[in-house]
Amino acid sequence: MKKFLIAGNWKMNKTESEAAELVEALKAKNITNPEQVCVCVPFTDLRTVKKALEGTGIGLGAQNCHFEESGAFTGEISIPMLKEIGIDYCIIGHSERREYFNETDLTVNKKLKALLQAGITPILCVGESLEIREQGTEQTFVAGQVIADFEGIGPADAAKIVIAYEPIWAIGTGKTATPDQAEEMCAFIRGVLSGIYDNATGDAMIIQYGGSMKAANAKELLEKSDINGGLIGGASLKADDFAAIAGAAAELS
Ligand code: 13P
Repeated sequence: MKKFLIAGNWKMNKTESEAAELVEALKAKNITNPEQVCVCVPFTDLRTVKKALEGTGIGLGAQNCHFEESGAFTGEISIPMLKEIGIDYCIIGHSERREYFNETDLTVNKKLKALLQAGITPILCVGESLEIREQGTEQTFVAGQVIADFEGIGPADAAKIVIAYEPIWAIGTGKTATPDQAEEMCAFIRGVLSGIYDNATGDAMIIQYGGSMKAANAKELLEKSDINGGLIGGASLKADDFAAIAGAAAELS
């Protein structure tokens, strides 16, 4: 059976009280496939959302972490801190972090290794800019990210990483990649992983699409054979929309 993970990325949205409200609204939707769903929320919302999600089966994620266990890194959050809260997932290498916060493939690689060691599932974001797509070099670029980000990670650990293919030109722009464009790159990424590891590892990986995914286009994206779900920004802030996207995955399961 095809695997799905529908992950909400709330980005820098929702105070604690607003987060509690959104989770209550989401719970009222009675999602039938909670094991295929998670929400990745701001650090300050993690404890509140953890408690609110208790007993629902919906997973919880953070949006970043530091790779060192502790120390003089003012303003950063360590993996042991996140582990103690009890998170399941952590987004790593989102294009917004790569663009605005100097995240590089080297720091992404360190974070992936540290998360795997801690037993937290990384959701690794990759994807090209509009400029790269217009040059026609998007596959070379994304393959470069995947190869660098997975450097030194063994096959058993690699298979635990969720990849989110997020073309930067489709994020928050309302301009979704066509299902064929998304499928083409997700299949290509799977091929790159099969090349680094083996076919079994590539086949086992969850590869999501992200970028203006919404209730109206979720089904046509999720029914593509190499797309195992979505990383959803804007539409994850509305319980109706997010539940509808989860519902599209449930129907296809
Ligand atoms: P949007 O769904 O708002 O385009 O954001 C996508 C994204 O960046 C998820 O990580």
